[in-house]
Amino acid sequence: MATYLIRHTPRLSGEVEVSTAKNAVLPILAAGLLTEDPLIIKEVPRITDVETLVSILRDCGAEVNRSGADLSICALQPQSPRNEERMRKLRASILILGPILARTGSACVGLPGGCAIGQRPIDLHLKGLQTLGAQVHPLGGMRQLSGRLTGARIYLDLPSVGATENLMMAASLARGSTTLENAAKEPEIVDLANCLNQMGARITGAGTGTVNIVGVERLHGAIYRPIPDRVEAGTLLCAAAITEGSVLVRGACAEHLRSLLFKLAETGVGIRETPAGIRLSGTAVSPFELRTLAYPGFPTDMQAPMTVVALRCHGASLLNETVFENRFMHVSELCRLGARIRVENNVALVEGGHPLRGGVVRSTDLRAGAAMMLAGMIASGETVLQDPAGHIERGYQDLPQKLRTLGAEIEQIEDCAGS
Ligand code: EPZ
Repeated sequence: MATYLIRHTPRLSGEVEVSTAKNAVLPILAAGLLTEDPLIIKEVPRITDVETLVSILRDCGAEVNRSGADLSICALQPQSPRNEERMRKLRASILILGPILARTGSACVGLPGGCAIGQRPIDLHLKGLQTLGAQVHPLGGMRQLSGRLTGARIYLDLPSVGATENLMMAASLARGSTTLENAAKEPEIVDLANCLNQMGARITGAGTGTVNIVGVERLHGAIYRPIPDRVEAGTLLCAAAITEGSVLVRGACAEHLRSLLFKLAETGVGIRETPAGIRLSGTAVSPFELRTLAYPGFPTDMQAPMTVVALRCHGASLLNETVFENRFMHVSELCRLGARIRVENNVALVEGGHPLRGGVVRSTDLRAGAAMMLAGMIASGETVLQDPAGHIERGYQDLPQKLRTLGAEIEQIEDCAGS
């Protein structure tokens, strides 16, 4: 079990570099299955979600090699994964479905897992692939799909990030043109489209609600560097905002973080966009209201860190979670440290401005884990953060180390192997 000891941190200061985005890298890794040529991905973060997806890609017959920070994938003859159990380890495992089906005409995959933040069905992925001509058969806990794909008009009932990614990849090798309506607009969608276009795909409109994809006969290799991680950058900015910090997050892209930056500015901190990154100075004091939404709305992945920011503000803040139905698991952990938070349905009412005291808490999911690490920094004395599932290492490269660079006192006292 990974366990962290966090001591009270009066003030963060300095500079820290953001890693490339987990949620951009994972779909781009899956895109490596679309071509027999090598796809080289630059600056891939060393996180366990990447390791898990790499092991799934290898199970699909791809050769994946790391050279320093870069990964190369070469999928000469992709096939369906044999290990169903591994698929359960992360949600992004479902992103191999579109590429394998489009490339080979059939695919059989287990249902994905990932953070238990909601039901997270894959109906939109399957419905979209069906519209492209795939036949879908349930096979125990697996889904078997087959058929030669043909371009079509697809309307997504929800702007699902994963479904948009899966369908963009599948449609890239389909016969004819596909239009995805009500598509997700997240920066990671644009990044995947840019990478696919570098591989020879013909995608336009990514980042808007309507994405057009003209299918091509084959895709080729490319060298691609994914975007910086907006959630990691945002989390580091929140860490500064709760500790009267003065922190420059190098490499952070303000364009991807607009809704968060406005919300942080509302709390009273100073934000400066510079060519090097984003600088935050000051302390969050004014309470706020936020509602998580699909991009460009406020990101659900930043809701847990913003709950900690709300604890710092003087007065009542309201956080309304509309994307996932079970994403307030960090609240009961925060209450163990003395936080005053009430959750009703999908709204958390946070009474900020009361001191937190150190204690023993758990990381309940990836973003909640990072939020608990921030909470430990503003609690008095020492906080022990237990992360039995290794959530933090799943999604953040060296988060404790990065916070230490800024002056936090965080030690990992036990690793995932329990040493
Ligand atoms: C992606 O998940 C991210 N994961 C999530 O980040 C992020 O929270 C989420 O998008 C929303 O921004 C990756 O990119 C790997 P969705 P995804 O499909 O694709 C419902 C993190 O911590 N839905 O946009 O799974 C679903 O239940 C993670 O890094 C269906 O109903 O999200 C949810 O309520 C957590 N049917 C909503 O749509 C479907 O077929 C949005 O999900 C698909 C989704």
